[in-house]
Amino acid sequence: MIVLGLHFGHDGSVSVLEDGVLRCHVLRERTSRTKHAVGITGDDIQQALAAAGVSVRDVDLCALTSTQDMEMLTGLIPGCEIRFADPAHHPLPSPFAHLLDQAGVDLNRALAHGLRDLFNEQTRTLEGLHRDRFRRLLPEWRQFAAGTIASHGWMNQYMTHDHWQRQRGLEEIVADGIDPASFDDPVRLGMHLPVQLRLGDREIPGLVVDHHVCHGASSFYRSDFERAAVLTHDGGDARRNLSGYFLYGEGSHLYTLAPHHLVMGGVYRSVGVETGFDVVGAEGKLMGLAPYGEPVFFEEALAGNGYDMLRALGDAPFAGWMAHCRGQADETGFNDVLEAFPRDLAASTQRLFEACYRKATDALQRLLARAGRPVDALCLSGGCALNCPSNTQLANTGIFQRLFVEPNCDDGGLSVGAALYLWHNVLGRPRQAAGRGVNQSPYLGIPLEPAEVQAACDDARASGMAVEPAGGADARGPGERLAADLEADRVVAWVEGRSEMGPRALGHRSLLANPGPLDNWRRVNAIKGREAWRPLAPAVLASRAADFFSGCPLPSPYMLFTAQVRGDALAAIKHVDGSARIQTVDAGSGQLASALQTLDTRTGVPVVVNTSLNGPGEPIVERPAEALAFFREHPVDVLYIDGHRISREA
Ligand SMILES: [Fe+2]
Repeated sequence: MIVLGLHFGHDGSVSVLEDGVLRCHVLRERTSRTKHAVGITGDDIQQALAAAGVSVRDVDLCALTSTQDMEMLTGLIPGCEIRFADPAHHPLPSPFAHLLDQAGVDLNRALAHGLRDLFNEQTRTLEGLHRDRFRRLLPEWRQFAAGTIASHGWMNQYMTHDHWQRQRGLEEIVADGIDPASFDDPVRLGMHLPVQLRLGDREIPGLVVDHHVCHGASSFYRSDFERAAVLTHDGGDARRNLSGYFLYGEGSHLYTLAPHHLVMGGVYRSVGVETGFDVVGAEGKLMGLAPYGEPVFFEEALAGNGYDMLRALGDAPFAGWMAHCRGQADETGFNDVLEAFPRDLAASTQRLFEACYRKATDALQRLLARAGRPVDALCLSGGCALNCPSNTQLANTGIFQRLFVEPNCDDGGLSVGAALYLWHNVLGRPRQAAGRGVNQSPYLGIPLEPAEVQAACDDARASGMAVEPAGGADARGPGERLAADLEADRVVAWVEGRSEMGPRALGHRSLLANPGPLDNWRRVNAIKGREAWRPLAPAVLASRAADFFSGCPLPSPYMLFTAQVRGDALAAIKHVDGSARIQTVDAGSGQLASALQTLDTRTGVPVVVNTSLNGPGEPIVERPAEALAFFREHPVDVLYIDGHRISREA
């Protein structure tokens, strides 16, 4: 059975699930070349299906979702229409839809607003920021005349409870306990509604699924855990349940317990913007800045969810936190405010983020224990799970013994989560024994075509570059040749097979360098047009990771945990606090494993600088022609494209 997962929000994506196995994942920004692009196109769907060896005729069911408060833009998909279906004549169970139906709610009428007026300057039906965000993430908007954009309103009519809407701090949520009805099917199946998707001449039955339930499904169903607590969290508004949920997974079932009302995702991003970073990528830059400062403004008592923080700070969390930090700086005679304040603010905000997460996961653990369902495993998802120091601290606290975060825990993974939710939670299909290889490989982008690889090589040759088989003359394979280039201190652009999911390069679309020389930190950041102070991450052979790094749960295949670097030999990847965001590499990662094995044999150091192959503000390179263009424009020494080595001079 083929399930097509579609996510229409920012970081839009398409996933194809065949009998529960993920066959392809296409992230819209990689094809559109606009970072965090909104929406998906007909081509994205066609390419994803083709990569899975099927066509739209073979699709049995669909699972749709969108980013919070973003409409489902259908105008980029020819012949696409979405409408709510009558639950009485729909193949998938939707008890909540029956309740709405009995109450006389006409969802198609109630939710049929959309983007029609979004770009119409005269009507101003939405606030300017929202409009600007769409314009930035959807450059194609100019091709639509005002009032003609095909879309469907965001479907946010899901199951809720009175106590979900109450302004509860974390301890109040624990004290209230879990409503036993949360484990009943009407609530478990209350987070989706039945729809019909028209794609050309196909009518495909399916579901539209709540955003954070998709996050939870994306993580839990890809973990190895039979039972797990699940916490999802984005930036968002706690009062409207948009920032994330406490959930619980058991076998093929996923239960939504309650919104947790955390707001640290939004506070963290706002502090990043306040510090002067662009709103796109502010979180990552703040995380990189934090180790330069001291958490002098942090107070444990301020940590909690949004309502806890409101009470502790006496103000809205972001405004209150900024006033607290500025007040502390003044009171303590901060004599170097202009220089040190942003760094200490970053360090303090990072510490607060970690404390909020620690308190929330502790609350979730107690909540489940009190309900007679104690668990020792935790799954995280949502964009906040990209915060590596926080993930590492959670793994080390012992609140939960085991922790899993999936590689595309940001909104790019929502199409995966929607499809897995339908397959397991709604159809009740059992989970297969996971382990590396079943829905855990991140390398599921559109395959490279031999013709496009050849075209890029021909183009390089025509420009006077040298192109040779990477496994030629003095090396047995591309990995060994790569090792020789790294040992010779060359900076290498590396393209191999299908691209990796998620925002972090994992060795298929990477910029690689020798981690030893300190100058390579500056050199690689300069190539990428990044600020010189921003850290670089290492990839390390999984079997040797513990010899070079400590304090990190291993393995760490998706670059989602922070370790402490042992010794001083890895100067280019050792951050000022001695930390590094590590990726552990095994045979499943491809030729990078072979290169690291070779380096281990030759130098005893199976470690490499691994950063994403892209310029500032750009999505990661996807196709060979883009890699060649990057190589032409940046002072990279060598480019590899799927076994072909390209260097500057013939
Ligand atoms: Fe999200």
